[in-house]
Amino acid sequence: MSKLVNLTIDGRKLQAEEGKTVLAVARDNGIDIPTLCYNEELEPYGACRLCLVEVTKGTRTRLVTSCLYPVEEDLVVKTSTDRVITNRKMLMELLLARCQGVKSIEDMARKLGVDRPSFKPEYWEKDECILCGLCVRACAEVVGTSAISLVNRGVNREVAAPYLETANDCIGCGSCVYICPTKCIKMEDTEDTRTIVNWKASFKMQKCAKCGKNFAPEKQLAYFARKLNLPADTFNVCPDCR
Ligand code: FES
Repeated sequence: MSKLVNLTIDGRKLQAEEGKTVLAVARDNGIDIPTLCYNEELEPYGACRLCLVEVTKGTRTRLVTSCLYPVEEDLVVKTSTDRVITNRKMLMELLLARCQGVKSIEDMARKLGVDRPSFKPEYWEKDECILCGLCVRACAEVVGTSAISLVNRGVNREVAAPYLETANDCIGCGSCVYICPTKCIKMEDTEDTRTIVNWKASFKMQKCAKCGKNFAPEKQLAYFARKLNLPADTFNVCPDCR
């Protein structure tokens, strides 16, 4: 069993497994910390920085991203000091200025007490992607295909397929679509084709051998049959008929 450490979060004395992050321990104990780029199934990445908290170790107090910071013995964590709240609001203003009209960002901003960015409106944008990297991590860590990645630097940073062309390694599973917090990755299903619009990738759908319904991209089913070492015809019938 892992070693337990004693720490304090918002005045509550807690015990937690060494190596867990401050965010995970806070959530295990019902303490809310806002996040946009965190998913417990994926490696934390520290992109949005909304999960900022103040930690004190010995005589030193500083701001850290709680999704990356591991708990340790005698750590004192405060999740909502004036300094934390001021910094979170500033980050939220930046996101709000970048993503005008994006509902999940507006909702989070309201929750954190930000109505509008304090920057001049000429600096506001209508970008929908917050570069949280959740889509890239889901594709690499859960699906295992790494069809997309974060490319370029600074203001040109974006998520894209190699050479900004069609994502040839995409299998059309839609994991990136489902996990995106701003819903900026578009997937279009027609009768027999699925298209992941952002990655310029289209897929023929598999027709169920029993009911005749198109239920998933052929490429996705072939990929999972191969990955799980199953016979190629394993997914010839849809989940309802299986
Ligand atoms: S949740 Fe920690 S940086 Fe985004």
